[in-house]
Amino acid sequence: MALAKFLADLEALEQSGQAALDKARNAADVEAARIELLGARSGRLKVIQKQLGQIDKADKPVAGKRFNEVKCRLETRFQEMLQTFAAGSAAVATDGEIFDLTVPGRKHRLGHLHPITQTINALQEIMGRLGFSVAEGPEVEDPWHNFDALHIPLSHPARDPLDNFYLATAQNASGLLLRSQTSTVQIRVMESTPPPVRIISLGRVYRPDTADATHYPMFHQIEGLLIDRHVTMADLKSVLRLFATSYLGSEVHIRFRPSFFPFTEPSVEVDMSWHEGWIEMGGAGMVDPAVLTAVGYDPEEVTGFAFGLGVERICMRRHGITDIRELYRNDVRFLEQF
Ligand code: DAH
Repeated sequence: MALAKFLADLEALEQSGQAALDKARNAADVEAARIELLGARSGRLKVIQKQLGQIDKADKPVAGKRFNEVKCRLETRFQEMLQTFAAGSAAVATDGEIFDLTVPGRKHRLGHLHPITQTINALQEIMGRLGFSVAEGPEVEDPWHNFDALHIPLSHPARDPLDNFYLATAQNASGLLLRSQTSTVQIRVMESTPPPVRIISLGRVYRPDTADATHYPMFHQIEGLLIDRHVTMADLKSVLRLFATSYLGSEVHIRFRPSFFPFTEPSVEVDMSWHEGWIEMGGAGMVDPAVLTAVGYDPEEVTGFAFGLGVERICMRRHGITDIRELYRNDVRFLEQF
């Protein structure tokens, strides 16, 4: 028998062996192919082995050597494959590559908006439906917008350097500070727009408070301002009630307690109750005629209401969060719950 034919048969056998292994999806597949190709009695390799006797003497060493190589390679590969399947943990991808199904996958984590951002978006949505558009103002403010125009006199304790973050720059003769309230935006809007006005402004405010469960040196407020003809306290209360019930649900009640703010007259504290107990959410009132005059409005022509509420309080109330610091620790295990 010619050497070339013998070698070609061997080569073909090795290829079908590899093809069978590539196709195998379990141990039974492997075993069936093994018996067909390498079976001791009538496997295809056995048939080829018998032809070895008919090879010319001179070619025998080459033929024998190649036969043993192929046999050895195929047996090893079948063995390995059987073991992999026996471990119960392998599958073969279509390209023949083996991978282990028991290795834990890499989880893809989808981020989402911070609970405060979610709250801000929700509040903007609700107030938008009531016809309020969103206004913005700078976080670094001048004393006119943070105090004077809001009728907060020079002697007022709210201006105390201990209660504000004044900017410590050499050029800060004008008394720039991080705004301590979003009421600044009321002034900026009224200065630049004639009445009627119907805006909200949501943003960060800064006060040098020591952080504890209910205080943080930076927090968010939602400011509302409505100026028009014949606006009354009744309008203020119905808007705030709609606002509260839209966000927290129909079981929410609101109440006003008499209070004082330099820029509203009369002024009230706004409390909300939801499930248990009353909680103070912020302040509100009818815009003081002195403020309307300061921005060039005619208090005989128009009136209006304003309110400023704490966004963190609203968010915490809704989600049952008891410590404001959790919102800013940025521990993803906490934040991902909301
Ligand atoms: N700016 C006040 C504060 O930070 C809250 C406030 C009270 C805002 C009354 C208002 C208002 O618009 O009318 O404590």
